Amino acid sequence: MKRCKVVIQPGNREIFASEGDTVMDAIRGSGADFDFPCGGKGRCGKCRVRIVGGADSPSDGEKEFLDEEEIEAGIRLACFTAIHGDMEVRLYEEKKREHKILLAGEERAVFLEPLLKKTYVEVAQPTLHDQSSDWKRLKESLALKVNPGGKFKIRLPVLRSLPETLRESQHRVTVVTEGEEVLGIEGPDTTRTMFGVAFDIGTTTVVGYLMDLLTGKEMSVVSALNPQAKFGADVITRTNFADQEKNGLEILQTAVVEAIDDLVGEAAEKAGIRRTDIYALTMVGNTCMHHLFAGLNPKYIALSPYVPVTGDALSFDAADFRIHINPAGKVFLFPNIAGFVGGDTVAVILATELDRSGDIKLAVDIGTNGEIVLGFGERLVSCSTAAGPAFEGAQISSGMRGAIGAIDHVYFGDQLKYSVIGGVKPEGICGSGLLDVVAGLVRLGIVDANGRILPPDSITNPSARPFLKHIVKNNKANAFLLADQGSTGHGRPIMITQKDVRELQLAKGAISTGIKILMEIYGIRTEDIKEVLLAGAFGNYLDPRSACAIGLLPPELENRIKMVGNAAGSGSKLALLSRSELERASQIAGSVEYVELGAYAGFYDMFVDSLKF
Ligand code: FES
Repeated sequence: MKRCKVVIQPGNREIFASEGDTVMDAIRGSGADFDFPCGGKGRCGKCRVRIVGGADSPSDGEKEFLDEEEIEAGIRLACFTAIHGDMEVRLYEEKKREHKILLAGEERAVFLEPLLKKTYVEVAQPTLHDQSSDWKRLKESLALKVNPGGKFKIRLPVLRSLPETLRESQHRVTVVTEGEEVLGIEGPDTTRTMFGVAFDIGTTTVVGYLMDLLTGKEMSVVSALNPQAKFGADVITRTNFADQEKNGLEILQTAVVEAIDDLVGEAAEKAGIRRTDIYALTMVGNTCMHHLFAGLNPKYIALSPYVPVTGDALSFDAADFRIHINPAGKVFLFPNIAGFVGGDTVAVILATELDRSGDIKLAVDIGTNGEIVLGFGERLVSCSTAAGPAFEGAQISSGMRGAIGAIDHVYFGDQLKYSVIGGVKPEGICGSGLLDVVAGLVRLGIVDANGRILPPDSITNPSARPFLKHIVKNNKANAFLLADQGSTGHGRPIMITQKDVRELQLAKGAISTGIKILMEIYGIRTEDIKEVLLAGAFGNYLDPRSACAIGLLPPELENRIKMVGNAAGSGSKLALLSRSELERASQIAGSVEYVELGAYAGFYDMFVDSLKF
């Protein structure tokens, strides 16, 4: 088979590919940092590259995303394009974007009760009259301090190093335990040092909070994009990658574990401590992230009847995951509620204390999926909606995540104005911006109740006049031009196409249907909901007026909306600081009812009804 040389720019990475491989295969093989939001399935049109040399001619499918001018200029979609000869590939998104990652979340007081315990003991020295074993003497000292009737166990590697550790420390040691299991022994007295990192593994971003487990103080916060995004923007694409690509599961697991290991190092450096001072990590994430982190195949979550491998809270030795913290260190994974309502939702409930609320509240976390929880006290009902890709930009023509260059808010005053993250020329639009534009267009009558972008001559609202010139033709359909090619960072216009409005309709229809069904199951009316808690990055940055104007959230609740920030991260921190909170997370996961929306009688009619603006 013919071998072709592919040079990836920038970076001048050379790779040899077989004739017929796609450019995507070559980019992945080169290790270049480049995202394939739809996993290379040809659905998103985002894997734009510039190619010089041996590519095949564009297929009809590819031409749907590219105009003639672009094809002429060598722009191609990497997942469509087959390699037929030597070529140079220039990655379109050359800039390493700084992403706006939500770090802060709802905080509340917690009784400190770390997941691992440290106890300083002075072990009796052996003599010719007391020849009992090292372990027996340690157990006796430990029992006196911790639990007189305790049945202590010790791990074999710790037992192996016990004689030297005892003698090097003159028999004065600190014992690290979980319950009655000895996980580590170190000398002499290290009881005043114990840190942990609480992680929130999002589909898009990973955030870690380094906490002092003895004082509860937050020492540093670190974040990064989830490197799995290269293999797909959403959980379904990643699930397919894990299941269908060679070593797919291992590739995805390694990617996230390495990112976490790097973040642990960064967090320790920022706080001025050693990695070995870290003893516990907590992880929250949706069920797919939970499975991929644990190396469990999420395949059956994506297939009806959507069953996870396990919903249980899990714990592992950090060393088994090649995460470099103290050798005694452990990793604690939050439990899940269902295949599409995961530990991140459990963490939101834990942080906001929905399970102890006396008032009915609605919590909505819109990420790459939309998870919704309704209720109070002992009865909480939940569901998940496939709402995310529109809000995360994956299926929007000029969509992008909330990063430098994204239009994040749009204002229709006397004229059209927008704000751009980082104050630079715009390069796309993120979810909150999209919501503002469409809400504005609906209010002005430029988009009708069915979601149609109307032609200028059929718009009657006088307030719409200043904006009629923004209505343009795109692929024979109407579109709304936000920024012309001269005012963007990449020299291409940014517009909201008819298809984009349809995508937003589907997303808002899904969330609004989820809310209505949960209310119906709970037997309440909108006015019974005392508070709407918006969690997650998108929820934090969106304008509630826009969300209510298009019916994403019930308009009657506009004044009851509260942003709770990264509540999933806050829940992770609570569990890291307190074993009772970790145990409560399991109770929450086991008691929250899950509603499979697709199986709910009347779902389809309600969904169709909810599509209207
Ligand atoms: S079209 Fe290529 S990654 Fe989506």
